[in-house]
Amino acid sequence: MKDYRQLLLANRAWADEQTAERADFFERQTMGQKPQFLWIGCSDSRVAPEQMTMTPPGGMFIHRNVANLVHDDDLNLLSVIQYAVTVLKVKHVIVCGHYGCGGVKAALTGGTSGPVHDWLDNARNVYCDHKHEVDAMGDEENRANRLVELNVRDQLVRLAKIDTIRQAFTEGQELYLHGWVYDMRDGLIKPLMEIDRETVLEEVGRPERVLV
Ligand code: CO
Repeated sequence: MKDYRQLLLANRAWADEQTAERADFFERQTMGQKPQFLWIGCSDSRVAPEQMTMTPPGGMFIHRNVANLVHDDDLNLLSVIQYAVTVLKVKHVIVCGHYGCGGVKAALTGGTSGPVHDWLDNARNVYCDHKHEVDAMGDEENRANRLVELNVRDQLVRLAKIDTIRQAFTEGQELYLHGWVYDMRDGLIKPLMEIDRETVLEEVGRPERVLV
């Protein structure tokens, strides 16, 4: 575990390294951002979007929350989407879940209280909607991991229904929504599904089961 002072030391080393590689690195950073990607992922400390995709600063707009949920009344998320899609005009929005997600597991097994319990309502709904399939998966780990995949699917469909996204699709803006899942056992991201402006949302099926 890093002491907070080590964070500051590491930061200094990082800044020096960037400047050594490219003298005008920070000067260019101040000139603005033009990321191609909006990442909506879990807050889990092991799922680090920029590191695992080797994306440099300026490449990715990011929103993270417990269990990568899309609440259509979450002003934080809605603002992030609005700015990323309408102003920055990102081309790709990625909803990335991850196996072994504590939030998704808690939606399945309960035992939560307080704000996180209310927050996970959305994920519990995903479980209710796919209960039969999830329960057929056998042990708790398998059930939770299938729920992770189905949760990505349902959050992606929810995302496609957000006003900002619908408007961008209607106006013909180049925009693709991707549902991915990250496997921390091998470090690999598995793409599950994609939605674009041609997609009929009612016809979006459940993703293939990736984890066997
Ligand atoms: Co998680």
